[in-house]
Amino acid sequence: MRELNKIIVANWKMNPQSKKEAEIIFRGISAAVKNLKNIDIVVCPPFPFLFIKEKIKNKSIKLGSQDIFYEKEGSFTGEVSAPMLKNMGVEYVIVGHSERRAISDTNTIVNKKILTAIKSRIAPIFCIGESKRDTNGFYLSFIKEQLIEGLKDITKAQVKNIVIAYEPIWAIGSHAVREATPSEFTEIRIYIKKIISDMYDIKTANEIRIIYGGSVNPFNAEPFVKEGGSFGLLVGRDSLSPKKFSAIINLAK
Ligand code: PGA
Repeated sequence: MRELNKIIVANWKMNPQSKKEAEIIFRGISAAVKNLKNIDIVVCPPFPFLFIKEKIKNKSIKLGSQDIFYEKEGSFTGEVSAPMLKNMGVEYVIVGHSERRAISDTNTIVNKKILTAIKSRIAPIFCIGESKRDTNGFYLSFIKEQLIEGLKDITKAQVKNIVIAYEPIWAIGSHAVREATPSEFTEIRIYIKKIISDMYDIKTANEIRIIYGGSVNPFNAEPFVKEGGSFGLLVGRDSLSPKKFSAIINLAK
């Protein structure tokens, strides 16, 4: 089986508000992240701040974007294409984040974006997750549908390049109802693996990185990785603090 690196993703969302602040945060993360082995650190700033990777060079940090458009070029006001992202040095892209799904992205759109990213050799960080847990287990069929529709037409060879991020909406952001537990993540991780195994095969399922995201902080990072078996983490708020983000990296690795 191929060696897989752990992956820690910083999703800055629509923050910070100036390039000066963006540089300070990136510099702070960069100072804490040096010569790391067997772990991919992916920083995803907003589009206008993608330039900082060129300005502050650090081979241990990979650049990610928070979205991608599925058309290559032309009359699509406000959109950003895969070639533009590639040109900026982007290696990963977050696709299907619940905050984007809430505005516009259906499973069909998410699927188109994943296909576009893969064809452009940008690795998708494919986000899935339910808005609430119900006792009848409807959340499980919701997740299954997100996976099946999101991965439509993606081949066995291609799917291995995708990182699947389970992000329960109820555990994300400052409006989180509560934190998820490592055992809740374990349950979903096994469930995702089973679906991938049914869609492709068990070998393929074992070669896909499945990570947790939602209110990750320096206190819960280690349990999600150790007890929950997460292959990495997707960090929102705490990725804007170099101190907290580097603590999370140290605990997770
Ligand atoms: P949070 O965000 O860590 O602030 O909950 C995670 C995410 O939405 O990706």
